[in-house]
Formats: sequence, C-alpha cells, structure tokens
Amino acid sequence: MKITVVGAGAVGASCAEYIAIKNFASEVVLLDIKEDYAEGKAMDLMQTASLNGFDTKITGSTNDYSKTAGSDIAVITSGIPRKPGMTREELIGINAGIVKEVSSNIIKHSPDVTIIVVSNPMDTMTYLVHKTTDLPKNRIIGMGGALDSARFKYRLAEALEAPISDVDGMVIGGHSDKGMVPLTRLATRNSVLVSEFISEDRLSQVSEDTKVGGATLTKMLGTSAWYAPGAAVSGLVQAIACDQKKIFPCSTLLDGEYGLNDLCIGVPVVLGKGGIEKIVEIKLDEAEMNKLKESAEGVKKTNGLLEL
Ligand code: 2OP
Repeated sequence: MKITVVGAGAVGASCAEYIAIKNFASEVVLLDIKEDYAEGKAMDLMQTASLNGFDTKITGSTNDYSKTAGSDIAVITSGIPRKPGMTREELIGINAGIVKEVSSNIIKHSPDVTIIVVSNPMDTMTYLVHKTTDLPKNRIIGMGGALDSARFKYRLAEALEAPISDVDGMVIGGHSDKGMVPLTRLATRNSVLVSEFISEDRLSQVSEDTKVGGATLTKMLGTSAWYAPGAAVSGLVQAIACDQKKIFPCSTLLDGEYGLNDLCIGVPVVLGKGGIEKIVEIKLDEAEMNKLKESAEGVKKTNGLLEL
C-alpha cells in the first residue's frame, strides 16, 4: 500500500506520522513545493521509526510527482491555511488553482488512485476535483466530517464529564463554521441518548462549540490546527487501505441522496477498498434536514466562485 501526501506542512506531516505509527502502509511519499522541505520532514519522521516502532518507509520529494507513481491513495493538503478571523471560504482564490494542478499531477502518475481532499474550502475543493478529473466519484473523498465529529465527541465528553471513549456522535453538512450540522439528537453515551444526561441548552452549546472548533484553534494557534486533522485523515486512509468498511461522514458527490444534487457535502459513507462504497441515508428530522439544506446552499454559493 503506497500513500502520497501532498503538502508537507503541519497537517500533511501529522497525517504522514499517524499513518506511519498505525503501521498499515508500506510506503508514504511526502511531497512539497518548498525545496528540501518534504525530504527534511520525511527524514525527521524516519528517525522516529525505531522509537515509535513502525516499519512504514517515509520518503520526501520536492515537487517530483514521478516519486508518487503507483500510489493507491493520495491526500491533498496543499494550499494556504486560514489565519485568525478568516473563513475557510476566503481561501478559494489561491487554493483552487493549487488543488487543480496537484490532482492532475497525481493522476498522471497514479491513474487508479483514491484522492482524499483536505485543502479548504474543502467541500468546494472536492467538487473541483470531480469537475476537473476523470476519476470515478467513489474515489474522490473530502475530509471534514471525521474531524468535525472528533471535535463534537470532545465537546460532548466535556459536557457529560465522561471519557471520550464513552460517547459517540456525528457531524454532517459542509465543513464550515456555519454549515456544520452536529447531530445532537442522535448522539449517545454508551448507547443512551445524551439528552438523557444534559439539558437542551447545554447541547446547543456543545453544537456551537463544535461548529467553531477550527476557528477557535486558529485564533489560539495563529494558524489552523493539525493534530486532529492529521489523525482524521489517517483514519480515512486506514479504512480504505485495510478495507475496513467503516462509516465516516465524508464529503462526497451527491446525486439525489438527501434530496441534494451536484455538490459535495458531508454525509455518512462506508469506506473500504473501493473508496466510498456506499452513501448511507439516515433518517433526519425536519429541523436537521432544513439545516442540511441551508448548509448545501452555502456550499453551492462557494462552488459558484469556481472558474470551471
Ligand atoms: C480545521 O478545521 C484544517 O479545516 C481544518 O482545522
């Protein structure tokens, strides 16, 4: 299993590190445009191999896509991250050109690849890859919901004063401060609905804190977060590489599912060796459906800024 990670910044490097530590891939290629940067990160990570006990070979490359040839999965983290006060949507001007070029270079050397898009605005960048490449729709995946759900579980555990392993919950919708739809009604603590333990008001607070999860960290760190995004990507990569058939909310091209068409947005999917093997249509109540529709309108508005 060969995996390419394009962009050796904080998210890309964390992603490579978590993939290596989980020890399921034979090779990870880190690629960056900055001279020697990916090579340096790869060398540093390889020097953790004997300490962290992994055998994954990590190599770096300065923009030489021939080194990525034959990749099974490629993760695109390239582009600029947001700064405090910025929305993810504001990055579209610079990131669209980068994501288009990167995806075309990857496919040239790995025609059977599955692409995972992380660059923001992620739902629109995922849609761009659909519109500008010939990859089948099951092999283009946007990473947002897995991260947003991890942040949701963190906030739920905080509110419940429970260990995170005791809680479960999912965030669907667009990967944006306004567009996320945390499914509070369905969240559970060890299979009991969380509404049994905390008030509606506290749950609304959990929901709001989840939606601004990325923005909160961007303000604190001066740039966007990397550990949780990297870990979330590594979870998707592992599900595909190991054919786990796990359910994650991912951004995928919808064709009538949830009453939505011609956009990529986060909904639950089954991930396995075929990439997105199934879009899971769960029964949403009217309020949740309305929020998802509103979120879709926001994503479509951003998609409208693409020069296709
Ligand atoms: C985040 O939410 C990078 O969009 C990503 O932190």
